[in-house]
Formats: sequence, C-alpha cells, structure tokens
Amino acid sequence: GLDSAARNLLRELLVRDEVDSTNARLLARLEENRGHGVAMFAERQTAGRGRRGRSWISPFGGGITLSVGWQFSGGVQQLEGLSLAVGVALARALGEFNVPDVRLKWPNDVWCRGRKLAGVLLELSGDLTDRCAVVVGVGLNVGLRAENVEAIDQPWIDLNSVCPGVDRNRLAAVMLNHLLPLLHTYPERGFAAYRNEWLALDQFAGQPVRLVSASRDWCGTAAGVDETGALVLEVDGERRSFHGGEVSLRRE
Ligand code: BTN
Repeated sequence: GLDSAARNLLRELLVRDEVDSTNARLLARLEENRGHGVAMFAERQTAGRGRRGRSWISPFGGGITLSVGWQFSGGVQQLEGLSLAVGVALARALGEFNVPDVRLKWPNDVWCRGRKLAGVLLELSGDLTDRCAVVVGVGLNVGLRAENVEAIDQPWIDLNSVCPGVDRNRLAAVMLNHLLPLLHTYPERGFAAYRNEWLALDQFAGQPVRLVSASRDWCGTAAGVDETGALVLEVDGERRSFHGGEVSLRRE
C-alpha cells in the first residue's frame, strides 16, 4: 500500500471506470485550483493521450493508467529534467517487484527487453513564469488483452510476460510512493539527484541511434544525457545535445 510519506503528500485519490483522459481531467482540476496532490486512476480512457500528439490505447482492464497533479510556486525552469526523473521513479517502483531488465529510453519511456513497458506524458499548466503546475501521466502495460492490442503502433511488452503475478493495485500504490516524493522535492533536488541512475538504466548508451525532428534527422552514437536531461549524441566526432519536445529517438 501507500507509505506514510506518500499518504502525507496525497490530497485526494480518484478511481474512475472511464474518463476521456486522466491527464485531461487533472489539467482541468489544476486550472480550477483543485488538482494539487491529486492522483487519478482510470480503468479505461476513451481519448488517452500519448507524446507528440499520438493517442494512448487504454481499453478496459488494460494496464495502469495514472495521472498525478502538482502545483509549484515559481516558474517552469525548476522542472528541467523532471520527465526523465519520472522515468527513474518508475524504474525504482518496478525494482521493488524485482522486475528484470528495466531500462529507460530518452526522454521518458520505460522499456523492458527491448520493448516499451510504460510511457510518460507530462503536461504543464499555469503562466509558467511565476507559478507552474504539472500533470504527470503514466500508462503501464499490464494485463493487456490480445483483442485490444492490435492498434498499438510500437513494439510493446506486458509486465505479466516478464514478471507474472505482480498485483496491479500494489504496483499502483508503489508508483505513488515514488512519484509523490519526487514531485515534492524536485525543486530543491533537481535532475542532478537522478542523473546517475538514469545513465545506469540508459537503453541506448553507446549504440547507434537516429534522432528524428521536424527539420532533419541526426544519426550518431547515443552518449547519455547532460545535467539538464538533454540527450547527448556524438555526431561525426562532435557532441551535440537535444532537448525533448517534438523529437523522437530510435535505434539505427
Ligand atoms: C507516451 O509514451 O506516448 C506517453 C503515454 C502516456 C499515457 C498516459 S495514460 C495516463 C495519462 N493520461 C493520458 O491521457 N495519457 C497518460
């Protein structure tokens, strides 16, 4: 279950059968000033959102679908690297269940055995200069049903296939045990507190990769992330860093 640190930080826990998107619900609550410290789980989303405008398929009983809302005093610059740190928090949560072969794919996918186990979507609200708020959305594949997975457009893996018997409710609670303290302490601790762990879990370290952006593709060797969480690629002997947003990374 929830540990005492998480219980102190959690203001409200909402569990829904069906919503459009837990991220959308939490963003709406943050705008009404009642989203801070709120976690929402849904059994099913009718309009689940993924990164870069994609949708996230979340059929009934298919996985863990979670959003957490958090309000910060101060601007958005203090959140640099947060999405990567969320990946580390999820890896720690999975570590408590001894899930093997967990890796992170920049910026914030959780992979296992070369396929995607969980995706993270951070959405911001607020004026971003004096105050900002974030919704951390996590979708984790566990117990997906065969009839529902045809539409998934990338290589994925189900937690049950690598680590059978993990209780979904316990894992959901342990995810909150890691995510809530992360959000609470992030303005002081920053990405520096997570970088080494991120690097140790880097799915692509030292491998040839291709970074796809709207303007062009970059081919190079993955060389980890810098202290801000930007991806570092070695391209023709030169190091270049890339920030998140509208780019995607793949194995070359
Ligand atoms: C991605 O890998 O593209 C990110 C997927 C994030 C999906 C989660 S499911 C819970 C939350 N609500 C949403 O609408 N999206 C996120």
